Amino acid sequence: MTCFPLFCRKHHSSTRHPSEFDGELSGVKNVTLFSYKQLRIATDDFSPVNKIGEGGFGSVYKGRLKSGKMAAIKVLSSESKQGVREFLTEIKVISDVEHENLVKLYGCCIEDDHRILVYNYLENNSLAQTLLGGGHSSIQFNWRTRTKICVGVAKGLAYLHEQVKPHIIHRDIKASNILLDKDLTPKISDFGLAKLIPPNATHVSTRVAGTIGYLAPEYAIRGQATRKSDVYSYGVLLIEIVTGRCNTNSRLPIDEQYLLERTWQLYERKELVLLVDTSLDGAFDAEQACRFLKIGLLCTQDALKLRPSMSTILKMLTGEMEVDNNKITKPGLISDFMDLKIKNNAPKLHPEQINAAYDYVLSSDNTTTLPSTSSSQGNSTFTTVAYDQSI
Ligand SMILES: Nc1ncnc2c1ncn2[C@@H]1O[C@H](COP(=O)(O)OP(=O)(O)OP(=O)(O)O)[C@@H](O)[C@H]1O
Ligand SMILES: [Mg+2]
Repeated sequence: MTCFPLFCRKHHSSTRHPSEFDGELSGVKNVTLFSYKQLRIATDDFSPVNKIGEGGFGSVYKGRLKSGKMAAIKVLSSESKQGVREFLTEIKVISDVEHENLVKLYGCCIEDDHRILVYNYLENNSLAQTLLGGGHSSIQFNWRTRTKICVGVAKGLAYLHEQVKPHIIHRDIKASNILLDKDLTPKISDFGLAKLIPPNATHVSTRVAGTIGYLAPEYAIRGQATRKSDVYSYGVLLIEIVTGRCNTNSRLPIDEQYLLERTWQLYERKELVLLVDTSLDGAFDAEQACRFLKIGLLCTQDALKLRPSMSTILKMLTGEMEVDNNKITKPGLISDFMDLKIKNNAPKLHPEQINAAYDYVLSSDNTTTLPSTSSSQGNSTFTTVAYDQSI
């Protein structure tokens, strides 16, 4: 397959409008521009047989490029109002980024309304479908593998947060965005792409519903992401990997449904070890596992400034730095935060009401109206808090 690096691209498609993005192409050296036809051939005309997933961005297909390389081809929803320029700006940033723990972007396709991203294909799917997939995977996640995954994801995030200039905030760290290669090396996917999400409300609410347990309260309420909101999501993920449990499980008894609340309870009782995944049959390093859970608690603290940076987290994971027990404060939970911020003493919300509220919160920039808990109560209003740029 002939692929044209953007800096020396040829107009091999009559449907593209080069004048639209000529100015944007200067300086972009690492992105290959695929034609729509090339990707149609690679995926057998986007055959449903080749569809491997569906996410907030649209559908993902497995495809074989002409070079023989396998690729994951992500077709952004046609509802995306993203212009070519914004699309390219994001691609430019991501194409310069390369790290062992990040998925590699091969290139993209921009033709008419098509916005397609082409990634390195990863053989072992995502952590959501394997480790947290309810026993449908044949992969054995022993303690060593879990350690490697936790450290690998931390390295990838530390790189995005601290080494790449300008820094990249992921905004959607979660189990389905951690992909595994054939050696179970974790690769963070979708980094820097949050801005490409179509701006319609239905889409946002679908996405938010799927991500609810990972959102730092202040991010959910203000709708603005910081590196420390990524750290919060990483903390939730870390606890999921150690426990082998999703952050929310409505089939469990009520006081065990929310993993973060449960972790805090057991931490207070000095019984953290009870949370470690029972499928390990006791074959794990208890000191290390409890340390990881405590790091998860450090990451999910309510106060942004108390959450450690990713490079500090990395040092604590590897044992280079001690975890100071005295520094751990109660996790910031979205339900607590909302109770605090809602005026008019609104009653404590049920999970479905919290879900609905997330949808409202995330579709707003500023002051947000919360759906009422019953039709007779009227609406309560959130007060937004100033965004701390220094975090
Ligand atoms: N590079 C890849 N290699 C292999 N499979 C992939 C790749 N990228 C995505 N997938 C598969 O496609 C699925 C959907 O991915 P996608 O990123 O669109 O959605 P998501 O991660 O579930 O949600 P979100 O839109 O929030 O990221 C993933 O869960 C994974 O199974
Ligand atoms: Mg994803």
